[in-house]
Amino acid sequence: MITSNRFSIPVTTLPHVRHLLSSVLAQRSSGKLWCHPGQKVFFSYGSAWGISEAIKALLKFRGKAQGVIFLPDYFCNQALMPLRLQPVQLAFYPVTENLNPDWSLMGNLITQYGSPDVFILVHYFGFPGEITRATQFCQQVGAELLEDGAHVLMPFGEVGKNSWVTVFSPYKLLPIPKIGIVVTSEKNEIYKEKYWGGGKFDIDVCKWIGKRSLQSFLTYCKISWRNGKVAQFELDIETEFNENLTISTFPLQLLKILESKLSGYKIIRREYYKIIEEQILLIKNDVANPVFLSLPDDVCPYLFPMRMHSSIIENVYYSLNRMGIPAQTWPDLPPEIKENPYNKIAKKLRGSILTIPIHQSLTKNHIEYIAHNLHDVILEALRNK
Ligand SMILES: Cc1ncc(COP(=O)(O)O)c(C=O)c1O
Repeated sequence: MITSNRFSIPVTTLPHVRHLLSSVLAQRSSGKLWCHPGQKVFFSYGSAWGISEAIKALLKFRGKAQGVIFLPDYFCNQALMPLRLQPVQLAFYPVTENLNPDWSLMGNLITQYGSPDVFILVHYFGFPGEITRATQFCQQVGAELLEDGAHVLMPFGEVGKNSWVTVFSPYKLLPIPKIGIVVTSEKNEIYKEKYWGGGKFDIDVCKWIGKRSLQSFLTYCKISWRNGKVAQFELDIETEFNENLTISTFPLQLLKILESKLSGYKIIRREYYKIIEEQILLIKNDVANPVFLSLPDDVCPYLFPMRMHSSIIENVYYSLNRMGIPAQTWPDLPPEIKENPYNKIAKKLRGSILTIPIHQSLTKNHIEYIAHNLHDVILEALRNK
């Protein structure tokens, strides 16, 4: 039996002290790694603020007092908070079971709201969405395409190549304080001001360094530090709404230090993804499956999402968390979606997908512990069904 200290498995990536120290004297990241030729980059306080500020600029450019945004109904409510402050109507388009926009229903949405100013396409869990289809749709209706790459480590293939704006949230995949990256063509004017105007550190950055360094140290010493509280399966965790802040320079310096390590992190994430995938596929029963049929060559997965039968999902969720394996649900659906019978697939996805961490701060031991117990927990849940 592979063992691991309960609650010592980190939910998120953790920094190395040597990276923290060397970043103090490092240059700031220019963000160019996230650009294709002919593109420029801005930093924002996370993707949600990046999306909101870019849309604000577009409406100004188009001389419109009110805009229409098409976005998927399978989306995080918290990520919409900054956008809700803009004079826009949010038109949620349904997604299909395989997380693509349901193109057959776009006509209905246009009848109801008119043509969108912006169409948001999400690359869920780091896997590319239907970019070509989305580009064609935008050309037909005169909308700008915004690619939401909040779960993408860095651009690859067609991701971020030709759309109006692409946003990234490197802090979700790397051990850095909260920043977002907004990429657009050199010809576009989306921000007037630079958002990194703050000092070297700010209070949030200092808190982040203190907390993550402690977690890193405790994890290294195999000391349990997570409190073991498990959120109720059906409840969405309410996170506090953060005001739009300027970015201090330290996160950009730390990002610069980590840039040379991105390909290595991608290799580890892919390796861990495949270890979990193998265990799930061993269960020759249709009760648990990876959400994605395969892992394309260039994808760097954010999490391992798995689809689970309604008869076992809650049991598996609680059992894993009780063992210290941080299985999570995603997302906290917007209230309009929760209340609307029309968006039944988004609700079904919320109730049938669990995610498992596969990030680079996990050790081989952690991932083997997760994989082994995941397999056993699913079989046990099946027996108790
Ligand atoms: C798909 C997606 N887009 C955007 C966001 C917002 O990202 P950020 O936390 O960088 O503002 C999230 C956040 O969870 C997300 O899951």
